[in-house]
Amino acid sequence: MASSGQGLESGGDGHGAGRIAETTHSLALQILAAVPVLRLDLPADWCQEATEESARDQAAVVRAVQDVWQYYPAAAAYRSRLLKRIEGTLAEPDEGWYNLLSDGESTKPAEPGFQFRTFRHCPAPSKDRAAAGTSITLHECTALTQQGTTGLRTWDAAVMLANHLCDTLCSSPARTCPTGPSSILELGAGTGVVGLLLAGTLNKQWHPKDAQPCVVLTDYHEAVLANLTRNADLNWTLQPEPRPTCASIDWRNPMPAHLARPEGYDWVVAADVVFDPQLLPDLLDTILAALGSKSRAFIATTVRNPDTFATWCNLLESHPDLVVCTHDLRALRAGHVDLQSDHQFDVFLHELTRASP
Ligand SMILES: C[S@@+](CC[C@H](N)C(=O)[O-])C[C@H]1O[C@@H](n2cnc3c(N)ncnc32)[C@H](O)[C@@H]1O
Repeated sequence: MASSGQGLESGGDGHGAGRIAETTHSLALQILAAVPVLRLDLPADWCQEATEESARDQAAVVRAVQDVWQYYPAAAAYRSRLLKRIEGTLAEPDEGWYNLLSDGESTKPAEPGFQFRTFRHCPAPSKDRAAAGTSITLHECTALTQQGTTGLRTWDAAVMLANHLCDTLCSSPARTCPTGPSSILELGAGTGVVGLLLAGTLNKQWHPKDAQPCVVLTDYHEAVLANLTRNADLNWTLQPEPRPTCASIDWRNPMPAHLARPEGYDWVVAADVVFDPQLLPDLLDTILAALGSKSRAFIATTVRNPDTFATWCNLLESHPDLVVCTHDLRALRAGHVDLQSDHQFDVFLHELTRASP
């Protein structure tokens, strides 16, 4: 997908080039977000007159669509409706356009046992649910476990946590609120829904005059890290900087020096990481290594095994340096449609801060 950034950048060769770059960029993001074809925001006149300029614009549109489809093979019906709609806005479809139409089958499909899923956070007062908010599309496996890991699919607690924290960001924009996060560390990120949705929401609020928000998504399993990086690339090749980074953190080892921050991360987030009682002390040590005096940690847990959950709660509550606040995440998210598969289990959110000395 390396070419898409170049293809979508405004080249600085005139007002028209900047406009078409902006439009194709927006088109690419809308396709990734699976915005319904009828609601796509396309200018009616972008390639209307058959001039040299419009031929160049059309090539940019074709390139944008190809770039997205190279990594994200949208459903066939969506693709053909989308192409028809775009074709209706072109003055004179050229060879590049017809190649795109016949190119339908050459995109890289999801690997066997994998699918693409789009997640969207809509701020509460939004009227236009399809267009507003932040969307990301993730490559994830369809089975509960694959390659010996649970990290290749997206779990309910992560979707709930992502929505809850994006609500928090939208209700107190990081840019204007001094307590908003400028650094976020995700542990056991899996497919990356929490960190990527947060990074997308922060990007929307970020102003180039401010320090760049830093979002780091981590996991330890090789296949999970490869898929996590693929998901960050899929969503960030087409998005403006700053982009999130992916890195390896294994809770059983000390925090890698290049990821340590003396003042800690503003937010440390993790979902569905409480499953193995033996790993819990290491998980807590990793959280503490990233938790500074002004940091907050948000850990969402699906309670599949009450004993494991009780062990985790005891560990947190008996720690002398921690202040622990527990919320019922399902109740916090009541009225939102978050449900996928774990609906029979409770989901709790622990918010952790350092006790003042
Ligand atoms: C149930 S999955 C949750 C994934 C993701 N947070 C979600 O909720 O969709 C648990 C995650 O913890 C990660 N994990 C397990 N043991 C780990 C360890 N020792 N260090 C770091 N990550 C670990 C797994 O690779 C996996 O991605």
